[in-house]
Amino acid sequence: MPQTVPPMDLTIARPGVVDHPNITVVGTGYLGATHAVCMALLGYDVVGLDVDQAKIDQLADGHLPIFEPGLQEKLQEVLASGKLRFTTDFALAADHGDVHFICVGTPQSKGSDAADLTFVDAAVTALARNLTRKCLIVGKSTVPISTAARLTALVRNTAPAGELIELAWNPEFLREGYAVVDTLQPDRLVFGTASAWAEAQLAACYTSIIQAGTPVIVTDLATAELVKVAANSFLATKISYINAMAEVCEATGADVALLAKALSYDSRIGGRFLKPGLGFGGGCLPKDIRAFAHRAEALGVGQAVSFLRQVDAINQRRRQRTVDLVTELAGGNVTGVKIACLGAAFKPNSDDIRDAPALDVATMLHEAGARVSVYDPAAMPNARRSYPELEYANSLEEAVTGAGVVALLTEWQQFREADPARLLQLTGAPCIVDGRHALDADAYQAAGWDYRALGRPARSGAVVSSFDEDFAKARLDAQEVG
Ligand code: UDX
Repeated sequence: MPQTVPPMDLTIARPGVVDHPNITVVGTGYLGATHAVCMALLGYDVVGLDVDQAKIDQLADGHLPIFEPGLQEKLQEVLASGKLRFTTDFALAADHGDVHFICVGTPQSKGSDAADLTFVDAAVTALARNLTRKCLIVGKSTVPISTAARLTALVRNTAPAGELIELAWNPEFLREGYAVVDTLQPDRLVFGTASAWAEAQLAACYTSIIQAGTPVIVTDLATAELVKVAANSFLATKISYINAMAEVCEATGADVALLAKALSYDSRIGGRFLKPGLGFGGGCLPKDIRAFAHRAEALGVGQAVSFLRQVDAINQRRRQRTVDLVTELAGGNVTGVKIACLGAAFKPNSDDIRDAPALDVATMLHEAGARVSVYDPAAMPNARRSYPELEYANSLEEAVTGAGVVALLTEWQQFREADPARLLQLTGAPCIVDGRHALDADAYQAAGWDYRALGRPARSGAVVSSFDEDFAKARLDAQEVG
């Protein structure tokens, strides 16, 4: 159980704090678009800024450039209420905002594990040049430790208002697919601040969330930066831990699904993020653990987090192992064999294909000579654009028709609910690899499929259910919590 944090006292008077601040959000990608919409939903006057005019036009028109359940409706609601406007003009944003949230991306650098801070630096510099009065800049992007300290100096040297400008760090923990609820009902708020004023000004941006009892942890700047990467590292480690156990299971004939189930009942361990399978991907976990390891090495404490290199390696090996399992089911050679690749997004309820394990597997199979047929309910446009060499199907049915092996790579509800008997009528061979431990193994076996999953023995005779109700619930929790 987390420790109870006493509720933050919002009644303490702080001179110079704007109670109902005007807000700007710089960067309108996944994080920024969600944050801007949610702040407007909370009743603040918000200006969203991006340097990408096409994206700004699209958002101002009420269209989200990303797939996020429920967000587009909320966007249209706050546009109609006049609480949210969009611009590309830093001067306008600087004039509007009492608090400026920095939500630009920090991708992995090309040719290095380090985070690329080009966008953060550019956004903060462009904003600072226009700041002529006291205000608070709040970083939300995931950054290497000590970035906030460096940016504080940068801002004060650049802004006409100089020392009047303060900087805080307020990491964001939202999961794709649950972005709105994670923003409006977060597990906790972390305020990395350098003064009581900054703390109170930041609290004024979250009044109703704090009043709802959300714990607020107030820290120094470096700790706030660290909380985010530490949280993502922990989650990645938990996933790779169970996937490492899957490797051991594969060598011993043990069953990782039962192992995970047994572990999940230990309340100290819990079932969340203990779902074995193809492993983690996306725009956060993989690049965050690499950037963290890289930064720790630069700080001389690389050894302390060297296990993150193993976490990454275990995760990558799952992709090759999935290819191996598909190849095994195809009779040892995939050349010319049609493989139905179900899923492209890095996880369900998302069209995000950044570091998507599914597309890595599809690419490896394609390179091995297979005729892959990729289908995803939401990520097809992104996948086609980035992986034009792969073949795509227009439906689940089209993907599996005539397939030598079916590979479930992203656990969309549509795939989980598919009728095994119906799929068997369409497919060329009764072979399925459940890369996400998401299907009802019993139902597939009963329908006549050769059902295989990473870390589970190929079974004949007595069937051990992978869909025990309790554990199915634990897996659902894992999904819901991310
Ligand atoms: C993550 C963090 O959860 C979030 O707090 C942070 O702000 C951003 O990074 P997200 O990238 O949206 O969020 O995905 P998440 O739901 O955490 O899943 C990450 C990956 O792990 C997915 O590829 C998912 O399929 C995989 N996963 C998750 C597992 O393989 N097993 C699990 O048990 C859980």
